[in-house]
This record gives sequence, C-alpha cells and structure tokens, in this order.
Amino acid sequence: MNILTVTLNPCLDKTVRVEKLNISGLSRAEIEKVDFGGKGINVSKILKNFGTDSISTGIMPMGNSRPVFDYMAKKEIENDYVISNGFLRTNLKVLDLSTNEITEINEKGPEIEEKYINDFADKFTRLSAMCEYVVISGSLPRGFSEDFYAKLVEIASVSSKVILDCDGIQLKNAIEKKPYMIKPNIYEFSGLMGREYKTDEEIAEDMLKLNKDIPCIIVSMGEDGAMFCFEGQVIKTTPFEIEFGSSVCAGDSMVGAMVYAEINDFDFEKTARFATACGTLTASKKGSEVCELQEALENMDRIKVEKVK
Ligand SMILES: Nc1ncnc2c1ncn2[C@@H]1O[C@H](COP(=O)(O)OP(=O)(O)OP(=O)(O)O)[C@@H](O)[C@H]1O
Ligand SMILES: [Mg+2]
Repeated sequence: MNILTVTLNPCLDKTVRVEKLNISGLSRAEIEKVDFGGKGINVSKILKNFGTDSISTGIMPMGNSRPVFDYMAKKEIENDYVISNGFLRTNLKVLDLSTNEITEINEKGPEIEEKYINDFADKFTRLSAMCEYVVISGSLPRGFSEDFYAKLVEIASVSSKVILDCDGIQLKNAIEKKPYMIKPNIYEFSGLMGREYKTDEEIAEDMLKLNKDIPCIIVSMGEDGAMFCFEGQVIKTTPFEIEFGSSVCAGDSMVGAMVYAEINDFDFEKTARFATACGTLTASKKGSEVCELQEALENMDRIKVEKVK
C-alpha cells in the first residue's frame, strides 16, 4: 500500500528565550525548541506513529532545510523532494523572560521559481502513479498558480484516491476535479460555500450537495468535534473531555487517521470515531506531539456519535 504526502510550504518553527528583549539593541538568545512545520510531513509522521509508511514529497528550499531532512531520516520517513532556491521560512518566537511575553516574527518564505514548480509537477506525476493514496495538504508559497492543487488532483486521480486539506481559492478550484476526500475546518468550509452556518443541519445539507462529486467529506470543528459525510449520510462526532495541550497537528492527525481507517477498511462510524479520537488526543498533547495508535483505539468508544442526515 503506497501513500504519498505532499508538502509545498514547509517551515521551521523556532522558539528562543532572552533575559530581556532589547528593541533596537542586542539580545542574546538560547534556543528553547525547534519544530518542523509542514502539513504533509505531519501526516507522514502520524502515519509512521501508526506503523504505516508513506513517501513525503514537495519542494524544499536549499537554505536551512538540513534539519528537516535529518528529522525525516531519524523518523524513517522516506522522502523525495525538489530542492529549490531560497531559504526555508522560519517562524521565530521570542520569549522575553522579564515579562513572560512572546514576540513572533514570521518570514514570508521564498518565491518559488517556475523551473522548480515544473520539476515538482514531473516528480509528482511519477510518484503519484505508484501510490494508491495521495495526501495534498497545506498552503502554497508565492509563485504558484491558483489552480495548482486542481492540477495535482487531476494528475493523481488517474491512479490514486486523493485526500485534500487546503483552503481558499486552491480548495475552490481543486474540488472541481473531484478529489476522493476533503477535510476543511468549519471556517474553511464556510468560506468555500460562501455562507455562515447556524445549525448542524445546514452544514449537513451543504456537505450532501458536495457529496454528489466528492465521496468523503469531513468538516472539523475544533473542540466541538467534526461532521462526516459518506454515501449520502452525515454523522456528527463529539469529543470526550480533555485537558487542552496544543492544537498543533490536530487537523493533520485527523487526516492521517482517515488514511489509516481507509487502508484498514474501517466502517463509516468506526472511521469517524477513530479520526475524532486521534484529533482530540493530539489536542491534549503539548507542542507538536501527536497521538499514538493504541490510545486512539482504546479511547474511540468515548467519542459520541449522532446521525444528522
Ligand atoms: N480543543 C479541542 N478539544 C478536543 N478536540 C479537539 C480540540 N481541538 C481539536 N480537536 C480535535 O481535532 C480535530 C481537528 O481540529 P480542528 O477542527 O481544529 O482542525 P484544523 O482547524 O484543520 O487544524 P489544523 O490547524 O491542524 O489544520 C477536531 O475535529 C477534534 O476532534
Ligand atoms: Mg486544517
């Protein structure tokens, strides 16, 4: 079973601490922690936690990206990237110990030159043809056309089931190509459908409209759980109580869980329970720590499931 995950806008999340932040002066910093952002890489990491291998692909800027490759090597995540110009974007968080305040400085990231985008499209065509599942997730850096994800969905759909987790115009254009699965959160879904929702029934009605072309739709709603639509049915899941840790990777855990549920032939209700349990357990963990398979299987029966449509 081959699974391909795509990360086109990776980043380094670096947290440093200083005794006192001297604006316009020098502050000596100590590194507190470094995390790697990249939604496709996160999905590969979740799948690895579940004992499932995948191949991570995308475009990686040459400068500063060595730690990401070291990380994937350590986690034994197979990878095949186009190496581009520029530096990996860094999101710097500066913790000022004198005030306990955090100042964030987020880099924009390089504009990717067309030749690297074309090289990636060739690599993607070759890799996706060998994979049964292709997970396309996250934002795109500058330089990509508004229908880039739509083109990827079209290419991969020839041989694979495509799972898409993105936002805005890329999502709007890509659903025209009928991916197998989408997982917007409620804000992304609202933006896609161009309306606000007051009730679960209204959300379910719009999910069913899309379900004519897209076999599997998940709308995640943070601590309120998620709605799942498959074969003309909609169910809602509600998480169990947790002590909140961090929302980092909650959505990605859900996407990874959906792929795991697919390849292990879980039925509709079991899939919804499992995916919600994975998102919820990840939200209960600090930083970029993610759920484990065993705890998800042990806790999934604690997820409340209701039929909406
Ligand atoms: N505070 C929370 N309490 C319980 N469960 C949560 C919480 N936050 C997230 N989850 C779980 O994780 C799932 C996905 O979360 P969410 O809807 O926030 O995804 P997202 O906005 O796509 O996140 P991401 O930023 O990772 O893309 C939810 O459906 C829920 O099961
Ligand atoms: Mg998300």
